[in-house]
Amino acid sequence: MESIRALLPRLTFRQLAVLGGIGVVLGAGGIATAAVLIFLGARGGTLRPAPEQPIAFDHARHAGELGIPCEFCHRGVETQAAATIPSLEQCMFCHAVVGKENPEVQLLAAHWEEGRAVDWVRVHRLPDHVRFVHEAHILAGLECSTCHGEVPTMKVVKQVENLNMGMCMACHREMSASLDCATCHK
Ligand code: HEC
Ligand code: HEC
Ligand code: HEC
Ligand code: HEC
Ligand code: HEC
Repeated sequence: MESIRALLPRLTFRQLAVLGGIGVVLGAGGIATAAVLIFLGARGGTLRPAPEQPIAFDHARHAGELGIPCEFCHRGVETQAAATIPSLEQCMFCHAVVGKENPEVQLLAAHWEEGRAVDWVRVHRLPDHVRFVHEAHILAGLECSTCHGEVPTMKVVKQVENLNMGMCMACHREMSASLDCATCHK
């Protein structure tokens, strides 16, 4: 299981429509395939741009260049539903000493001194009726990149995979995980 992208090639809506046309000619199986592709394709256009964050945190610097493991900051990822966003204390582990002349680090230090949490803006957000659990996926051997792309190269994290029901189901079918509605819906 390398990447979802291998499973669901990124096609333009136009290409999908052409594929859909071919599918129709090929008969009922083709129609079903085309419907799924068009469904996924139509949703492909809805990925939001990266939100603006209160402090310019750079994953390419921290996870890429400095090689800090994802789990150092996202501590819940192997043990609970939410990966969790690190507390300021985790940042100050280094920034009490490092980068003090950088204005963004000074902003961070000001939050720390005043005891104000940083209001990071959510990048990924499933609807409230959906249940997602990181632990099960990490224990099944999946990499972060399968669902989040190459974060160590991202200056600003952005959602790169659809993470919609079609995509969840495609992988659950492939890996013999549960397809039961109640697994993912509260
Ligand atoms: C030094 C701490 C640190 C490290 C290391 C780190 N992250 Fe993060 N991560 C953050 C912070 C802070 C945020 C919130 C700000 C933002 O979205 O950029 C975040 C946000 C994210 C988000 C978006 C969360 C959302 O709101 O949906 C993803 C996905 C993510 N990180 C994945 C990773 C992956 C994968 C790695 C390892 C390759 C990693 N992170 C390493 C601190 C870290
Ligand atoms: C099977 C897909 C999948 C994998 C693998 C995965 N994630 Fe996520 N991640 C998601 C989804 C879906 C959400 C949004 C969850 C929600 O909105 O409830 C999310 C949200 C997040 C968030 C923000 C919300 C939170 O849970 O705190 C962070 C941070 C994050 N992921 C980090 C990681 C890291 C680090 C890894 C690898 C160790 C990883 N993820 C692996 C699908 C995945
Ligand atoms: C393991 C050490 C370590 C941790 C933990 C860490 N950083 Fe950094 N950070 C660095 C280093 C090293 C630099 C580069 C400093 C320089 O060039 O002077 C840096 C640079 C920065 C910068 C300046 C912009 C840039 O990329 O050069 C910001 C902002 C920043 N970090 C925010 C954070 C935040 C927010 C957290 C917590 C979520 C965090 N850091 C956790 C080591 C760390
Ligand atoms: C790349 C493959 C893949 C993707 C994408 C994926 N899953 Fe999974 N999922 C799995 C595997 C593998 C398991 C573990 C099955 C097991 O442990 O038997 C799992 C388990 C789960 C579980 C059960 C957790 C538990 O507590 O046992 C939930 C809930 C879940 N996934 C929700 C989702 C949702 C929602 C999405 C889409 C946002 C999603 N998954 C996307 C592969 C995937
Ligand atoms: C592996 C996880 C998973 C399973 C299993 C699953 N769903 Fe979903 N479902 C999702 C996710 C993620 C979303 C939200 C994203 C989206 O709209 O595609 C969703 C959204 C929905 C929606 C709302 C669509 C919309 O446009 O907002 C309905 C209705 C739904 N699911 C019904 C079902 C039914 C019925 C089943 C059982 C046959 C089921 N789901 C099984 C993950 C799952």
